[in-house]
Amino acid sequence: MNKLKKLVIFSSGFGSNLQSIINKLHGHKGIVVKLVVSDKPSMSIKRAVKSGISCLFFPFNKEQNKNEYDCILSKLVNVFNPDLLILSGFMHIFSHQFVANYPNKIINIHPSLLPKYKGLNTHRRVLENGDKIHGTTVHFVNKKLDSGKIIAQKIINVSDNETVNSLENKVKIIENNFYPNVIKNLCNKI
Ligand code: GRF
Repeated sequence: MNKLKKLVIFSSGFGSNLQSIINKLHGHKGIVVKLVVSDKPSMSIKRAVKSGISCLFFPFNKEQNKNEYDCILSKLVNVFNPDLLILSGFMHIFSHQFVANYPNKIINIHPSLLPKYKGLNTHRRVLENGDKIHGTTVHFVNKKLDSGKIIAQKIINVSDNETVNSLENKVKIIENNFYPNVIKNLCNKI
């Protein structure tokens, strides 16, 4: 029998992707969400609590040393012995050492068709450039922002009269199905 795959999810926002991972994967298909990490008070924490999943609220204080923060975070995460670290809307950029601790184990979902539009405000930049297609990318996390190896992408059409909000909603609806599927496939391979 395949061994249970343990996920730690880093999510500090609305948590729609976290919720869909909980709904679609947690407790079945040999997958369990062991821990949710949030660096801000967030819906993600509420969602974890509601599902009885351990959560860690670990705010980053700007005066704090980032390497020290990441070192403590890594020690806390390791208690759960995760197979994959899943990022979704966790705005803290990890130190090189943190990333090096988990080779090929950290993945992120980014709301653009990478390598286009790394960083913030992807939907606005798509509209400003008059792009006709947009989408989302799941990729491994490496030392450079939004630059790790691409695992999978999903494309959407940009309609006329689209707004930043409408694009964000469209992309999230796609992501909420897509991300759990990509995670499930990865879990089957590890
Ligand atoms: C998603 O759009 C994801 O692509 C980006 O952050 C957003 C998180 O949304 N990295 P949610 O918190 O899962 O609703």
